[in-house]
Amino acid sequence: MRLLALLLVAGLCDLGLCRTRDPYVWLSYLRSRYRSYGALQADTSGGDCPLECDCPPSYPIAMYCNGRGLQHVPFVPARMKYVYLQNNQIGGVPDSAFENSTGLVWLMMHQNLISSDQVGANAFSPLTGLERLYLDNNLLTSVPDNLPASIRDLRLGGNNISALQEGAFQGMDELAVLQLHDNNLQEVGGALKALPSLTLLDVSGNRLRKVPELLPERLHQLYLQSNAIEAVPADFLRKLSQVQFIRLANNLLTDDGVPANAFNVSGLIELDLSYNKLERIPPVSTNLQHLYLQANHIKEFTLGSFCTVVDVRNYSNLRVLRLDGNEITSGDFPQEAALCLRLARSIDV
Ligand SMILES: *[C@@H]1O[C@H](CO)[C@@H](O)[C@H](O)[C@H]1NC(C)=O
Ligand SMILES: *[C@@H]1O[C@H](CO)[C@@H](O)[C@H](O)[C@H]1NC(C)=O
Ligand SMILES: *[C@@H]1O[C@H](CO)[C@@H](O)[C@H](O)[C@H]1NC(C)=O
Ligand SMILES: *[C@@H]1O[C@H](CO)[C@@H](O)[C@H](O)[C@H]1NC(C)=O
Repeated sequence: MRLLALLLVAGLCDLGLCRTRDPYVWLSYLRSRYRSYGALQADTSGGDCPLECDCPPSYPIAMYCNGRGLQHVPFVPARMKYVYLQNNQIGGVPDSAFENSTGLVWLMMHQNLISSDQVGANAFSPLTGLERLYLDNNLLTSVPDNLPASIRDLRLGGNNISALQEGAFQGMDELAVLQLHDNNLQEVGGALKALPSLTLLDVSGNRLRKVPELLPERLHQLYLQSNAIEAVPADFLRKLSQVQFIRLANNLLTDDGVPANAFNVSGLIELDLSYNKLERIPPVSTNLQHLYLQANHIKEFTLGSFCTVVDVRNYSNLRVLRLDGNEITSGDFPQEAALCLRLARSIDV
């Protein structure tokens, strides 16, 4: 026993902890050391690791604590860059949880029970180098405060967020991917407008009744499916001129809600309008490659929606066209359709 105590003290001094008088550090260190004595070998090469987690000695900057029934964030050694806490029953994130984890690059906390009133106002703010924060499938009702400006990929899907505070993403100049799907949003407001790097926005599975007006200009992918959108603004894709992929499936779009050339923009590659209430095929650009219109109420095939001129040099780039689950048959296709849609690999009627 004396030998063990000596070893422990030696180990603590190695880590520079014998200089600290903070009882919390000593206590949590001793507790994790004592309980994981069997793993001492691994610890001496990799460093301190809480008993309930795995810190592979071969990769000492990662800590795997996923799927272990945890109810609290464990002690995170300061050397960590990648921390996996998903699939637990963690209910909150106090301000102290990551106060010394300033080197974290990835923090995975999806599939927990985190509720907004249990998240400290500065719980994430010490993480000044954080790039990925996954908080999807929790019980959040608002975006956590003071998120680090370094985040590139923020996942908040599958929570119960009903509004975005105006300054929720302020200063997040690196944010490229934002997932807010399957929440309780009725509108987005101006919270996203100023995000200069945002390229993918997923707000599917909410309660939006219209296409958000204030979206950042660099968006490439806009996912709005499974909402209650009845109409799209005439010029929204002219303002969002970088958008290449847009998903509006499972909404309430009618012909009246789709202004004449709303989707006829040259940058678009993929357009999903399936499971709506359209009766006509909206005009699209000849550059469009994938068009999904299945399960609408389309009654006629209008070739002019794809090609206004059909000849050797004027044709559509459509590769995939889905029109099944509508009120037309292949007999409704005029002969020139074969010329206009000459690149199509698949047309489902
Ligand atoms: C962080 O470090 C400070 C100073 O060493 C210490 O007082 C505090 O308990 C540490 N927090 C955690 C969660 O380890
Ligand atoms: C989501 O929040 C609303 C209040 O904004 C509440 O009425 C509803 O019960 C919550 N839903 C779930 C699944 O917790
Ligand atoms: C789509 O836009 C192009 C270019 O603005 C235009 O030439 C074409 O006629 C439009 N298509 C339809 C069907 O209106
Ligand atoms: C048809 O093709 C010609 C030659 O490429 C081009 O100048 C013309 O603008 C095209 N017309 C349309 C409506 O795309």
